[in-house]
Amino acid sequence: WVLVVTARTPTNIAVIKYWGKRDEKLILPVNDSISVTLDPDHLCTTTTVAVSPSFDQDRMWLNGKEISLSGGRFQSCLREIRSRASDVEDKEKGIKISKEDWEKLHVHIASYNNFPTAAGLASSAAGFACFVFSLAKLMNVNEDQSKLSAIARQGSGSACRSLFGGFVKWIMGKDKNGSDSLAVQLADEEHWDDLVILVAVVSSRQKETSSTSGMRESVETSLLLQHRAKEVVPKRILQMEEAIKNRDFASFAQLTCADSNQIISIVEKWNRSEGTPQVAYTFDAGPNAVLIARNRKVAALLLQRLLFYFPPNSDADLNSYIHGDKSI
Ligand code: DP6
Repeated sequence: WVLVVTARTPTNIAVIKYWGKRDEKLILPVNDSISVTLDPDHLCTTTTVAVSPSFDQDRMWLNGKEISLSGGRFQSCLREIRSRASDVEDKEKGIKISKEDWEKLHVHIASYNNFPTAAGLASSAAGFACFVFSLAKLMNVNEDQSKLSAIARQGSGSACRSLFGGFVKWIMGKDKNGSDSLAVQLADEEHWDDLVILVAVVSSRQKETSSTSGMRESVETSLLLQHRAKEVVPKRILQMEEAIKNRDFASFAQLTCADSNQIISIVEKWNRSEGTPQVAYTFDAGPNAVLIARNRKVAALLLQRLLFYFPPNSDADLNSYIHGDKSI
């Protein structure tokens, strides 16, 4: 017999960024972060997990190619999920798996990203969130989403935020063992439905520096990082929570752009000329821009402008990912 579960998890885009770890192994951050989770159809990972007594080892395929599961991050997630597995019964198929059986059974995992892997669009976020979620379903793990988020966090920090839709906060936590470093939902998908998120995929090449080594370098060499984590981000987190609660786009845009370390002149010029912000931009660890428009009308104008700068068939492959509505 084979028992199969499939799950789909969207990626998330941080508006107040996680940058820097205080514990590399457990993946504990130096500051809280806030993100928005995209609609599940757009940038997402789909993962199918299967268990069968005929499998003689754990194996995984990513976008159709077998990859090694021996890395510490995969192993941590697998171990944490297995240790919480409970009895599973499928009467129709005549399958009965006891809690203890899970220690001996092996899983096969097939995962697909519908967007460029490791190009700085948080593929590891969707990937590890889906990995943990689908295994937890297969193994009948009875934990709430926040507890699962603390497991996904050990795969990739940003993954903990993809366990929820809408606006999500990753609370950095205080415990040394990481038990209180987990994600909570600030507002659900419906709360600020006007917002439109456009992802300008200007390069699908693998990013040159991984988030992990970039963060390590910043922690080791940047005097400003301590200041950012201790002084700047805590204030921004409070202001961002307030902006989200009140759907206050002016504050949201100002904070999002301030927390992103690059400048896109179209957006800056436009916001200046309108007198009040219309669009926010943010970059993760790759070259691809994420643009958040205050409503669909602005999103349509924005798309026109972007198409002017990046016409179809140019090097840039411009994609728009829109909350609930693909029609702009
Ligand atoms: C810039 O979660 O990819 O996207 O924890 O080492 O796997 P690891 O890093 P990762 O870093 C994401 C960094 C970021 C900001 C963010 O998503 O908050």
